[in-house]
Amino acid sequence: MTVKLLSGTQLAATLREELKAEVSQFIDRHQIKPTLAAVLVGNDPASEVYVRNKHRASQSIGMNSQLHRLDSTASMHELLSLVNRLNADPDVHGILVQLPLPKPLDATSVLDSIHPDKDVDAFHPENVGRILQGRPRFLPCTPHGVQQLLIRNSIPISGQHVVIVGRSDIVGKPLAAMLVQRQCGYGPNAVNATVTVCHTGTRNLSEITRSGDILVAAVGQPRFITAEMVRPGATVIDVGINRVGDSLVGDVDFAAVSPIAGALSPVPGGVGPLTIAMLLRNTLVAAQLQATSRAGE
Ligand code: GUN
Repeated sequence: MTVKLLSGTQLAATLREELKAEVSQFIDRHQIKPTLAAVLVGNDPASEVYVRNKHRASQSIGMNSQLHRLDSTASMHELLSLVNRLNADPDVHGILVQLPLPKPLDATSVLDSIHPDKDVDAFHPENVGRILQGRPRFLPCTPHGVQQLLIRNSIPISGQHVVIVGRSDIVGKPLAAMLVQRQCGYGPNAVNATVTVCHTGTRNLSEITRSGDILVAAVGQPRFITAEMVRPGATVIDVGINRVGDSLVGDVDFAAVSPIAGALSPVPGGVGPLTIAMLLRNTLVAAQLQATSRAGE
């Protein structure tokens, strides 16, 4: 069986082109440039790279991007004051606090302090609750990237068994909440899945993963998904990005799984580039929300 490679790099470029046109229309209509404010505390090298990529991608589609840096010794008071200032700034539409935060800063309190209308990560409890209830304000970036990768490759989701390995607040839990919905704006085949969420405490893990029509690996362990965990012909989505020596490897053993899977997303070049594209979409959605609520529409 030849595996179909699900390229996120190519899809992200298409999505950015679509967004660029929408951003241009929005600017013509409102004379407002959608603006994303990223907050970076300290100088974690991986976070520096993420923030730089986000900045470049925003510029490339005609959005504004601000970077607010705080020293790694910044206090909770300083960080919360910055978030409050950005919450109140009408020229800032989306706010992103780059994680992880240096110790002893408390990420939960900081994320809770971001105004829900500017929470482009969709991490605020109000936004998480809305996703669970099927009336999202913002879709969480990585899960939305996974969903788009499936939709745009004509892989049906409705009625399929989606097995997610990993229960994080950023990927596993919100992805399950999205795909289990009865309906969504992307049409009848984009949701309505039967979803199983597995984790480190799951018994008979391989038995369950082998029953997945779509298997999503989001555990954060290099090459965790081996050949015998995959049903022949299944679609396998690898969300992991693990540094092993000098290279980046996914949560899926790519060499072992590619002869078995029907479709497989590579690492790098799979889900990763889509996360940023979806963040930009959320920034446009935030700007649209704020422009219409200001105009009283
Ligand atoms: N650090 C790694 N991934 C993410 C993300 O999606 N959002 C934020 N804010 N920080 C991250």
